[in-house]
Amino acid sequence: MQIQNAQEPTVFSNNSAAGLFSDAEIQLARELISDGQSHLFSDWDEPGVGDHEKRRFMAALLNAHLAYPGGLTAYTRNARLLLAEAASGANPFEGCTPAQPDLVDLSSFGPDYDAAEAEGLKCFAESAVVLVAGGLGERLGYHGIKLDIPVEVTETTSYLAHYASLIKAASDRLGRPIPLIIMTSRDTDEGTRTTLAANKNFGLPEGQITILRQELVPALSDMKASLALEKKYELLLKPHGHGDIHTLLHTSGTAKKLAESGVRYLLFIQDTNGQVFNAALAAIGVSEQRGYDFNSIAVNRIPGEAVGGIARLVKNGAPDLTINVEYNLLDPLLRATVSPEGDVPDEKGFSKFPGNINLLIVRLAPYLKVLESSGGVVAEFVNPKFSDATRTSFKKPARLETLMQDLPKNFTSGEKVGVTVFDRVWCFSACKNNLADAAQKVAQNSPPESASSAENDFYEAGRTKLRAAGMTVEDSPQEMLQGVPFTTGPRVILRPSFALTLADVREKIQGGHISGDATLVLEGDVHLKNVTIPAGTSLIVHAKDGAPVTIENFTATPKSRFTIQPLTDEEMQSDQVPEYLRIRGYRIVKSTEIS
Ligand code: UTP
Repeated sequence: MQIQNAQEPTVFSNNSAAGLFSDAEIQLARELISDGQSHLFSDWDEPGVGDHEKRRFMAALLNAHLAYPGGLTAYTRNARLLLAEAASGANPFEGCTPAQPDLVDLSSFGPDYDAAEAEGLKCFAESAVVLVAGGLGERLGYHGIKLDIPVEVTETTSYLAHYASLIKAASDRLGRPIPLIIMTSRDTDEGTRTTLAANKNFGLPEGQITILRQELVPALSDMKASLALEKKYELLLKPHGHGDIHTLLHTSGTAKKLAESGVRYLLFIQDTNGQVFNAALAAIGVSEQRGYDFNSIAVNRIPGEAVGGIARLVKNGAPDLTINVEYNLLDPLLRATVSPEGDVPDEKGFSKFPGNINLLIVRLAPYLKVLESSGGVVAEFVNPKFSDATRTSFKKPARLETLMQDLPKNFTSGEKVGVTVFDRVWCFSACKNNLADAAQKVAQNSPPESASSAENDFYEAGRTKLRAAGMTVEDSPQEMLQGVPFTTGPRVILRPSFALTLADVREKIQGGHISGDATLVLEGDVHLKNVTIPAGTSLIVHAKDGAPVTIENFTATPKSRFTIQPLTDEEMQSDQVPEYLRIRGYRIVKSTEIS
């Protein structure tokens, strides 16, 4: 190898580099130097000093290089373009007029809902679930992976167990293993693998789960896209965002393999949303009915609410773009174009632009084409914080980012993009915030999105299903637990092996009554006919495979009951109390009366 560049440090000359770096690392160093990144090596110690650190540094560079389609020089090339755009202060929505997106409203139950759900159940046999779970969860501050957090503490089921149980129940029912793809990151990879191994994949065969690990990307310290250093011999790396899932599905060949195995739809879900499968089947059904290539599950949004709104952006001479527009951009855009009053409520009090919750259904065939043409790098952006009005230097290093919901920005072939609107609590209640922040959000009239509100809503979905089946449900009053409202009952858990759809619940439950703080858990092939579960009682049925259970004309008695016990101040501070309880502020205890 010849030294190509006068600035090349001697450490990369043949003799010094021999045995220290791989050919690929030396090649990369040369590429980077030609790309204007010689500062990465400028303060290196003389050959023979700091070899261990040098090696680690080169390995980190190569890792970042291999993780990005086209390598680090493609990354810096993209960065320079995006940084120049950002510095120009160009309005990304210049010339666009927002209009309501093509949408289907399934925010209440009825024949349309049932038809969509029946269609979606069929299509689910040709779907795969993509779970993005690489996020740090800084707002929650939990010291473990979010997938391990229990969605409920009556029987203490983790989010991952909950998702896997649905995939298993649906696979068994539909006669086809539904693939589960999990995106992890360096923060969550080990924890996710450990949990899967410790729980025997929650009953899913090994081949049904694929793990794709996202990597961090290098931070950029200036407009020239100079790669930033944390310190000598250490790159500063930052998260690239959940849009990495598109890259990984492409570069790993997973998307292609799924298509070859007959998968037609991908359902993208988040790490802590226990409600997702209440709505997902009906939404997949809507994709099939309406021919949507990209379908966002969305919620009704009050104008001004701090949730991105999905809008169809109309621009002369360009195809419409249906995309999530951040709420702080949507209102000025409306004011500047079609609505001088900004985002105004409709007759029901909602914005015309439904709220994005990042639950997506993507048709695989057009998706493959988009991945191919974009090399899997989807709609990157950069958000530099400039240090002054000259917009030439940054307050702190920036990086390119990508969001999975921005995929439509890469559509070029008239792909059909739509939205399916559901009742908010029915489809989305994530566990994102620590209790103190959640209580503050409650005070400001915003959804708390805490572990407790997520559990509260999980039970509420259960009650909603019972009501839809015709059972009489009397709620107990709401209480405040650590500043977050909680309806203490009835606490209803209907496992996926009991029911995948509303139609299943209707078929399995006839009549009956449940009230107050009663608890009901149904798993497996269980039928209830005229069953009463009064306050202070519980009915827990775990039917084994092949052993159906029918309970008829029965009233539960207070032999065993489940009680919510708020944690004391001392317990809230104590390491002896599991963290998953402290992030919600209560435990649920089972007491059994001996008669
Ligand atoms: P969130 O918005 O909840 O972000 O991500 P977060 O990073 O997990 O939490 P905070 O903001 O630090 O509090 C939405 C979904 O996207 C995943 C998360 O795991 C979650 O399921 N995600 C986020 C990734 O997979 N990778 C990322 O780089 C970021």
